[in-house]
Amino acid sequence: MAEFMLPKNSTIKKGEKFSAPAGATRTKSFKVYRYDPDSGENPRYDTFEIDLDKCGPMVLDALIKIKGEQDSSLTFRRSCREGICGSCSMNIDGKNGLACTTAIEDVKGEVRITPLPHMDVIKDLVPDFTHFYAQYASIKPWLQTVTTTPSGKERLQSPDDRAKLDGLYECILCACCSTSCPSYWWNSDKFLGPAILLQAYRWLADSRDEMTGERLDELEDPFRLYRCHTIMNCSNVCPKGLSPGKAIAEVKKMVVERHI
Ligand code: SF4
Ligand code: SF4
Ligand code: FES
Repeated sequence: MAEFMLPKNSTIKKGEKFSAPAGATRTKSFKVYRYDPDSGENPRYDTFEIDLDKCGPMVLDALIKIKGEQDSSLTFRRSCREGICGSCSMNIDGKNGLACTTAIEDVKGEVRITPLPHMDVIKDLVPDFTHFYAQYASIKPWLQTVTTTPSGKERLQSPDDRAKLDGLYECILCACCSTSCPSYWWNSDKFLGPAILLQAYRWLADSRDEMTGERLDELEDPFRLYRCHTIMNCSNVCPKGLSPGKAIAEVKKMVVERHI
């Protein structure tokens, strides 16, 4: 009988506990995934108690406070702290989201924080985006044209055509959707995943782009596009309120329509 075992170094161990300062009356615990590949040790969960009266309202505020006051080695990405850059994406209380736009008070009990699921971890809460960005580059995410550029002016677009990009251009490439998609978990080597497919549709939907046929040729593939089984986790989780599942359905429709 087949026997399946997880590798020994995949077991998450219990880590250290950092208590709130004496006198804190409104405390909250944060259970944070820690992993340092250079140490050769297994990952662990450290627990940090925070004094909420001395902390900003968002999960990112708590992480910054932990790093500043309790453990400076805690590693995570962040930049804009207002849901624009997409760098603070992580799994918070079992759901992918942005640490800077997730309110601490919206998480009941202990706040468990882990990196985005099913990505290689560089350190602590920092996943390796190399493959994700290579997939993004593969869809040629820029305007492609064959006609001569109008001299002295931009390529114009009607307000109606411009409106077709709403719900697409707002994507911040945080990867919350792709890393919550079961198809992407199992086939990310070949399936482009919801974030990249939404980006692909952003260029297909652009009235100024003149490479629609070539773009569809690249996407029409049993894995790159058709590993999406409309599970819709992606649309459920997007912190910008976008619907990658709907964008993927539009791409599938365009592929079908050119064959009839
Ligand atoms: S609709 Fe489902 S299968 Fe398709 S990309 Fe979204 S989560 Fe993945
Ligand atoms: S569609 Fe939403 S969840 Fe997916 S990468 Fe873009 S902003 Fe993030
Ligand atoms: S820090 Fe930029 S999206 Fe959170």
